[in-house]
Amino acid sequence: MQENELKRYEDIGNWDFSDIKYTTYQETDWNFYDEIKKHSNAFSLLLDLGTGGGEKALSLLPDVGMIIGTDFSKEMIKTANQNKEKFPNKKIKFVCMDNLKMTFPEKLFDLVSARHTMIDAKQIYHVLNDNGYLIIEGVDKQDCWELKTLFHRGQAFHDPIAISKIDYENIKKAGFQKIEMQEIIQYEYYETKEDLLALLLKTPILDDFSEMETSKNIHIPSIEKDLFEKYVSTHTTTKGIELKRVLYGIIARKMTYRS
Ligand SMILES: C[S@@+](CC[C@H](N)C(=O)[O-])C[C@H]1O[C@@H](n2cnc3c(N)ncnc32)[C@H](O)[C@@H]1O
Repeated sequence: MQENELKRYEDIGNWDFSDIKYTTYQETDWNFYDEIKKHSNAFSLLLDLGTGGGEKALSLLPDVGMIIGTDFSKEMIKTANQNKEKFPNKKIKFVCMDNLKMTFPEKLFDLVSARHTMIDAKQIYHVLNDNGYLIIEGVDKQDCWELKTLFHRGQAFHDPIAISKIDYENIKKAGFQKIEMQEIIQYEYYETKEDLLALLLKTPILDDFSEMETSKNIHIPSIEKDLFEKYVSTHTTTKGIELKRVLYGIIARKMTYRS
């Protein structure tokens, strides 16, 4: 499953959605980058896992002491280093590393952030300092549910337990003391069906990496036209084509010594 995922991200090579025209209505008042800002300061050493092409890390992570952005895709790291040239003052370094095989020393980081990527809570606990924070945003089972139901497949569609619950339990088991979880609901409105299609072809919303067969030569799959048209016709509003996103945010603190 991880090989499929790596291959797919290597082929894509960036996590840039600036060509897709859409607006977002945020129903829940929880913002990943605001939370990172609240829990860090000008001296913090921050690790951003699964940073992609650094698009968000470069523009949205706060100015702290230093940011290390990691990704297991060499192509993503190459893109991140190219994107970095547009942010000459940002204190950030990009390193190719698997989130599940981290090689950083114990207690190195003040804060670990991970947005829409795979994590290993135990390894994060190991690299965080004694009062360090873990802040994640994930895509939950119920995300784009109407679309996934129509296609009868997609990210976590067949999972018996929601990803948010699995993450929460793993974070607890790893030893984190104070864990807060928040469901995040947002509505996205795509200007045209081409914009929505571009999103679906680039992200794993419909073609969940975990449900692909490893033996197959992975390529960007096509989307069934009739089902797609059906979704568009039933979800077109005056604001655009609606897609309900269901995400989750977690803030966990290590707290080895109570303060
Ligand atoms: C959905 S993108 C999110 C990128 C970025 N965090 C953002 O929010 O824009 C997921 C990223 O995680 C990376 N990734 C997935 N599994 C990983 C792993 N085990 N180790 C390191 N990176 C991983 C992918 O290569 C990809 O760049």
